[in-house]
Amino acid sequence: MTKKNQTLGEFIIENQTDFPYASGELSRLINSIRLAAKMVNHEVNKAGLVDITGAAGDTNIQGEDQQKLDVFANETFIKTLTNREIVCGIASEENDDFITIEGQKNDHKNKYVVLIDPLDGSSNIDVNVSVGTIFSVYRRITPVGTPVTIEDFLQPGNLQVAAGYIIYGTSTMLVYTTGHGVNGFTLNPALGTYYLSHPNMKFPENGKIYSVNEGNYVHFPQGIKNYIKYCQEEKEDRPYTSRYIGSLVSDIHRNMIKGGIYIYPGISNYPNGKLRLLYECNPMAFLAEQAGGKASDGFQRIMDIKPTELHQRIPFVCGSKQMVEKVEEFMKKG
Ligand code: AHG
Ligand code: MN
Ligand code: MN
Ligand code: MN
Repeated sequence: MTKKNQTLGEFIIENQTDFPYASGELSRLINSIRLAAKMVNHEVNKAGLVDITGAAGDTNIQGEDQQKLDVFANETFIKTLTNREIVCGIASEENDDFITIEGQKNDHKNKYVVLIDPLDGSSNIDVNVSVGTIFSVYRRITPVGTPVTIEDFLQPGNLQVAAGYIIYGTSTMLVYTTGHGVNGFTLNPALGTYYLSHPNMKFPENGKIYSVNEGNYVHFPQGIKNYIKYCQEEKEDRPYTSRYIGSLVSDIHRNMIKGGIYIYPGISNYPNGKLRLLYECNPMAFLAEQAGGKASDGFQRIMDIKPTELHQRIPFVCGSKQMVEKVEEFMKKG
């Protein structure tokens, strides 16, 4: 039973039995994530006041310059999950390889692995624009009691047991699913408590917003070029509105509330686009489907793709169902 304004803590306890293989472990995991998110939120809110903006000086495995807050968020989530010995492994956008959690109490006994984009949209930090965190949770497939292996992380999205994001926006929200719909909680910063503000979130079936980095237009596949022209045509309820923040979490969050589509297609120099299947696309796809939306690579369901690499990229089309289907139609025609 979801009650508006109940706290996230109350919600987790009340809905615990809905979780797959309910043992309290997944609840404790979500609890750790909400705690780490509060710490990151505190730091993000100070951006500009203390020396935490700007580049950290390193490049991550994605070839991107790491921002100081990328590093801070990464360390905070990993430390929080590691100290509580709540998962058996973690993979992060910011780390070359996955982490195996070992500990006195643990002995590889935990059931879940977490995959995380600790800070999404990090190029927006220095200009005071919303950023986020994205997480994805799977039950391990290797036997409990043994160290995790790469196979535990390379599972298709349809095996996710939970996924969510935190948006550090005008207010901070935690939005997540365990496969029973999507619920959004807003942080009251004075109390440090999250309240259920957006119960049972749903993507409108159709929408009027398209979100794509049109600067790359010349490099887009023909199907996407044609779809963009379709969005701009003066016909029926078109032209649509173009909105692109450049922070996936914020773009998807807006579109889920208002109705719209997000597209990061393959581009000629990056045929698989930019977004990462495991840390960005799968969790967003799980949320989108749970909210009645759809996520595709332009041809097939994102969550049915069997990953082959930790940092694999994939073209991403996600949003209101009818809009995603329209893109697939255009892609088929080529
Ligand atoms: P991250 O900051 O985690 O590396 O992700 C950035 C991603 C995503 O948030 C956003 O939608 C996309 O990059 C924007 O890319 P472009 O600047 O190429 O449009
Ligand atoms: Mn990055
Ligand atoms: Mn990201
Ligand atoms: Mn990131």
